[in-house]
Order: sequence, then C-alpha cells, then structure tokens
Amino acid sequence: MKIVVIGGTGLIGSKTVASAPGRPRGRRRLAKSGVNTITGEGLKEAMAGAQVVIDLANSPSFEDKAVLEFFETSGRNLLAAEVAAGVRHHVALSIVAIDRTDNGYFRAKVAQEKLIEAFGIPYTIIRATQFMEFLGGIADSSADGNIVRLPPVLFQPIAADDVAAIVAEVALAAPRNGIVEIAGPERAPFNDIVARYLKAVGDPRQVVSDPEARYWGGRVEERSLVPLGEARLGRIGMDEWLRRSQARA
Ligand SMILES: NC(=O)c1ccc[n+]([C@@H]2O[C@H](COP(=O)([O-])OP(=O)(O)OC[C@H]3O[C@@H](n4cnc5c(N)ncnc54)[C@H](OP(=O)(O)O)[C@@H]3O)[C@@H](O)[C@H]2O)c1
Repeated sequence: MKIVVIGGTGLIGSKTVASAPGRPRGRRRLAKSGVNTITGEGLKEAMAGAQVVIDLANSPSFEDKAVLEFFETSGRNLLAAEVAAGVRHHVALSIVAIDRTDNGYFRAKVAQEKLIEAFGIPYTIIRATQFMEFLGGIADSSADGNIVRLPPVLFQPIAADDVAAIVAEVALAAPRNGIVEIAGPERAPFNDIVARYLKAVGDPRQVVSDPEARYWGGRVEERSLVPLGEARLGRIGMDEWLRRSQARA
C-alpha cells in the first residue's frame, strides 16, 4: 500500500514516517512527499498510485489571514490531486474544539475540515489537543517580560509521539468519514501545566492565572480546549514526556 505523508519533515510528520519500520510492513510504503501543496509542485507525481494520503502540513505563518489562505489553498490543491489519482483514504490532523472556540488559527482549521468533507474522498479527521512540544511556544506567546498570563481553563496536552502513533494507525484502518478526538492522559488547569513545564526546563518565568487572558487572541472558558465527549487518550504523561525530552536534549 502506498501511503503519502504531506508535511513529512514536520514535528508529527517526521515521527509518523519514522513509526513505519516498527509496524507490520506488508507492501506498505510510507513516503515523505516532497511536494508543495501551495504551488502544486510534485503533487501529481506524489499521488500516482497512492491509496492513502496523510495531511500533516502546517502554515509557515500563524497570522490570521495567512493561515486561512494556507489551509484553504493547500487543502483544495491536495484534495483535487487526490480525486484525480483515486486516493481511497484522506487522513488529516486537526484540533479539538476548533468549531466551538474562536481564534484565527482555529478558523483556518475549520476551513480545512470543511473542504475535506466537501470533496467526498473517504476520510478520517483526527482532532488532537495541543501538543506537549507546543508548551514552550504557548508560554512565549503569552509572556510579558517574566510574567506568563494564562487562563485557568482545563488543558489536556498530548505528546507528539502519541499523536504520530495514532495517526499511523488510523491511516491503516478503514476511513471513518468522521472525526476521532485524541488527548493526553492528564487534564489540569492550563496555567498549572505550563508552570510545571517551565519549572522542569529551568525557565524562571512566572505563570499567573488570569481568567481574562486569551488563547491566540480568543476568549476561552473552562472546557474550551478539551474534548467534551469520548476521546482516545495517549499513553505518555507529562512526567514521562519531560524525562524523554530531557534525555533527547
Ligand atoms: N500545534 C498543536 O498543538 C496542534 C494540535 C493539533 C493539531 N495540529 C496540527 O498538526 C499538523 C502538523 O503540525 P506540526 O506541528 O507537525 O507541523 P510543523 O512541525 O510545523 O511541520 C509543518 C510541515 O508542513 C510542511 N509544509 C509547509 N508548507 C508546505 C507546503 N506548501 N507544501 C507541503 N508541505 C508544506 C513543512 O514542510 P517543510 O519542512 O518543507 O517546510 C513541514 O513538513 C498541523 O496541521 C496542525 O494544525 C497542531
């Protein structure tokens, strides 16, 4: 089976591609794509003979307009090439709560999901909570000098290793024509998790719980960022993830 990974050099993409050798092989080929979904370069060649496409591309800019344009253009070009090649399963990685929590990035992911549903290729959308690898970036984006202001809403980050393992598994299963939600094994207030992360990595910045603090510019409430219904949980908790990332550093 030929499986193409778009964004195979990224955080989740590289781990998804790397997860192939340890899994049952058969005639499966999990290839990095080497394509540009915005210009269309290499798309036709990459899709030839592909049964499954995993879209793990991300926008180089997170600015509201740029990110929306990225996911709309990339999604449209990719899905059109998949229709032409007869791809039988489109897998995409999205984010929990994008349709009930407002910010520019989430709006772009909603647009990506709508395109997937509209194109009619059998699909599975995996909505993940925030990656643990993203905690440092969240602290940076919420910092004012040495103070990091975060709302005390529930947060349930998942390790990229868990995400990649689930993505690889979902790609080999039958399309759900729907959404699967995944999250980390621990749920705690956002400010507590980021404070725990900063302490563990020796970052002296202080985290302050602020109910008025926004997430990527959007207002969030207690359950704005966590799954509301059933979600598959990753196996790697924060302590284990911190141990692994410190061992890798
Ligand atoms: N951050 C989170 O907490 C979170 C949570 C849930 C879901 N997600 C979603 O997970 C997905 C993967 O995120 P990530 O953090 O693994 O991304 P990442 O590390 O930023 O990697 C992005 C990938 O996209 C590729 N790419 C960028 N522009 C491209 C283009 N025009 N054509 C083809 N490929 C292109 C990059 O290739 P180059 O290396 O060649 O630039 C890279 O391989 C994203 O869709 C994101 O929305 C993120």
